[in-house]
Amino acid sequence: MLNFATEIARDAGNLLVQKLGVAKITSKGDINLVTEADIAAENLIIERIRSYYPQHGILAEESGEAVLVGRKSEWKWIIDPLDGTTNYAHGYPCFCVSIALEHAGELEIGVVYDPMRDEMFAAERGRGATLNDRKIRVSSVDQLSQSMLCTGFPYNVRERPDFAREFTKFTMKAQAVRRDGSAAIDLAYVACGRFDGFWEDGLNPWDIAAGALLIGEAGGRISNFKDEPLDIYNEQVLASNGLIHDAMMHVLRS
Ligand code: IPD
Ligand code: CA
Ligand code: CA
Repeated sequence: MLNFATEIARDAGNLLVQKLGVAKITSKGDINLVTEADIAAENLIIERIRSYYPQHGILAEESGEAVLVGRKSEWKWIIDPLDGTTNYAHGYPCFCVSIALEHAGELEIGVVYDPMRDEMFAAERGRGATLNDRKIRVSSVDQLSQSMLCTGFPYNVRERPDFAREFTKFTMKAQAVRRDGSAAIDLAYVACGRFDGFWEDGLNPWDIAAGALLIGEAGGRISNFKDEPLDIYNEQVLASNGLIHDAMMHVLRS
């Protein structure tokens, strides 16, 4: 199943690259975009899953959950066909395909594919995480002051000024803070040690699922903002290499 997931992520990623710069862009909300490429990549992934695993449930961003999740299966594919749509629409080359598989509520497989760098992040529960087939681990930075952090803002950011406060607080404490525009890539980068920590509120399960398994399998820690176990259906994510988790939690609570 991991091979199956990486294959479809690669095919969907290649489709995104083919359509980069030519896909038609429409608006889903005030600042929330969708492109033809989001839809085409999602269709490709769903068709492939349906033909191999017709009984499995599917939760995919653009299709709306109700129709596909309704199936009575313990297996659920959680799909973001294009994470980083705003980047994609502007030709900023930071976006990916994110695919996870949940079984009876537990994440079993997670794949994040960045087609611009040809980077395939993959994890299977209990079997570690890899980047292009090489094992990855979180970083060993243990001081917030030496950490490179990342965050993101949800589409309703204008109604939630607390994001700016958190951004300011972390900027004053960390070595550097980035905002890359793809939560799934951000999480994959924590898993492989490029970032030491990540926080964001207002995320959807398809942004988080694959990255969460990558972090766990790469030796990191992931929770909500109250230091409770992560619930991918509950919007908040604090992810880190484990060593700076308490310090990040302290900043969020301050
Ligand atoms: C978005 C990206 C972004 C995050 C937003 C997400 P999309 O997903 O992951 O980094 O800050 O909260 O909604 O719309 O590009 O798939
Ligand atoms: Ca997303
Ligand atoms: Ca998306």
